[in-house]
Amino acid sequence: MPTHAVCPGSFDPITLGHVDVFKRAAELFDKVTVLVTANPDKPSGLFSVEERVDFIRQTVSPEIEVDWWGGLLVDYTSAHGVDTLVKGLRSSLDYEYELPMAQMNRRLSGIDTVFLLTDEKYGYISSSLCKQVAKYGGDVTGMFPEHVAKAVMERYRDQQQ
Ligand code: PNS
Repeated sequence: MPTHAVCPGSFDPITLGHVDVFKRAAELFDKVTVLVTANPDKPSGLFSVEERVDFIRQTVSPEIEVDWWGGLLVDYTSAHGVDTLVKGLRSSLDYEYELPMAQMNRRLSGIDTVFLLTDEKYGYISSSLCKQVAKYGGDVTGMFPEHVAKAVMERYRDQQQ
């Protein structure tokens, strides 16, 4: 049976750290879907779900699928025959955040979560921190894919007008 993994997240927007995890997941699983998923704790984002999906599609290779989902993650994985969730882990802070979600998803549907340790190049990179840097005019080169960095800076420029 071919293996199918989903990389779920808010991805508002994707960083180069996310892209690295997607590529590494694609080497481990037959099929990988990046899933832009609603996080009820982050209701209003900088970008719409459609924009986030577009950024990812413009960045990843065509064999990686990109989709979005507004409901419970395990309802998507059960409906699409997904075997595994894949997430990046930067530090023990991420571990504390991810552990209950991984255990809850396993309790709800039996799905396991596999964690890939973030490449040390991207260990300090998060969408929220990089957005903060961009918001106040800092240099985000090497943090987001180039077209995404441009869009982030434009969005903050538009918001100031
Ligand atoms: O990138 P994030 O915001 O840390 O990702 C969190 C996300 C979106 C994966 C999580 O909030 C999620 O799975 N949301 C979908 C709703 C759901 O299934 N909630 C229960 C999670 S145990």
